[in-house]
Amino acid sequence: MAASTTPDVMSTIVSLAKRRGFVFQSSEIYGGLNSCWDYGPLGVELKRNVKEAWWRSMVHGRRDIVGLDASILMHPSVWQASGHLSGFTDPLVDCKNCKERFRADHLENLKTCPKCGGELTEVRKFNLMFKTFMGPVEDESATVYMRPETAQGIFVNFLNVQQAARLKPPFGIAQIGKSFRNEITPGNFTYRTREFEQMEMEYFVPVADDAQWYDYWKNARHAWYLSLGIKANKLRLREHAREELAHYAKACCDVEYEFPFGWSELEGIANRADFDLKQHSEHSGKSLAYFDEETKQHYFPYVIEPAAGADRATLAFLVDSYAVEGEGKEARTVLRLHPALAPIKVAVLPLVKRDGMPEIAEKIYGDLLKRSVRSFYDHASSIGRRYARQDEAGTPFCITVDGQTVQDDTVTIRERDSRAQYRVAAESVATIITDKLKEATQ
Ligand code: GAP
Repeated sequence: MAASTTPDVMSTIVSLAKRRGFVFQSSEIYGGLNSCWDYGPLGVELKRNVKEAWWRSMVHGRRDIVGLDASILMHPSVWQASGHLSGFTDPLVDCKNCKERFRADHLENLKTCPKCGGELTEVRKFNLMFKTFMGPVEDESATVYMRPETAQGIFVNFLNVQQAARLKPPFGIAQIGKSFRNEITPGNFTYRTREFEQMEMEYFVPVADDAQWYDYWKNARHAWYLSLGIKANKLRLREHAREELAHYAKACCDVEYEFPFGWSELEGIANRADFDLKQHSEHSGKSLAYFDEETKQHYFPYVIEPAAGADRATLAFLVDSYAVEGEGKEARTVLRLHPALAPIKVAVLPLVKRDGMPEIAEKIYGDLLKRSVRSFYDHASSIGRRYARQDEAGTPFCITVDGQTVQDDTVTIRERDSRAQYRVAAESVATIITDKLKEATQ
């Protein structure tokens, strides 16, 4: 039962993703749009489950964190204050011969094109923010930017949220939403794209406690991926060297996953100190300092920021769960997704389309839907093929209605990972499945 480790495993996963409706290329009928992807019926459920698991762990399961949903377009001064207008750049070179574009910091030789050997241009700085215009006049004064991170919506609302929710450091503000970066070299499927979704939380702490909370969040975020089934040997924390740090960071550590294309960042946990609150106070002329009722003093809390990518996490869960098991006729492709993440939780399968089996199966299906358990009804083709289809979609449980059901009111539950099968009373199967799902998500 070995998981497939072939070098082209990534292209196999990309084609499975398309075939089964996880991810399609954007605008495919027009030839696609580079680095843009659409989530299909299974993909949208998987990604929603990832975001919900994050929200449960960061907001609903805690006393000290609240949510926010800020707008994508913000006042242009935000990006001046945050340093994105001047500093959010990548060094860029073009090949004069083949016109290929490279990030200069990814090249060893800045003279020669690594693709065709042609001459490269001088290094230019390229700002990664997407620009657009607000209103009908397309001039400089109407320029606005698509946010390159959700974090700034949290910083500018710091006092609004703190006062409205009557919070005292340490406390956090969490947000999930789209961000945009005009990446020079997008790629590796949904790993690096120009439009993506972030799951960010800014945790505001008393200044003296920053190191303690930085360690806390590094460990908590590493543990979150493991709790949802990521293999421990494929996940690591990597502390940034001083020269790698972003302009706002005092320290930063990445949670990395070993994708088929190598160890890559899933999430960064940064100590942003008081950089952002101070910058916005200075640029807006409105102080974002917190007033401590006990000491009667104003101060700028330090910020620990776990910043994750919803698309990257979704891709990591997809890749990590993918396995080809057995050989020859026994071989199967399976997504061993954690039940909390699986797009479909249970499939209901009447063995044949007669002898009263579809009616019993329909009733069980209806019961599951009433309990909001994402379920799927399938009566087409052989039972073996239907199990195989559900394994490939990552469905943790199948319920089979067969000849014996008609006689003794029992059905079979088949478990995806062990392939174990056992009979239970048809009338209690919806409760049994709901309990199993609850148990798995606690
Ligand atoms: N607020 C801090 C911040 O934005 P970041 O490391 O630039 O930090 C956080 O981004 C996370 O957002 C990354 O770890 C990654 O998961 C995701 N992300 C960033 N750029 C991305 C891109 N081009 N495509 C997909 N996800 C991206």
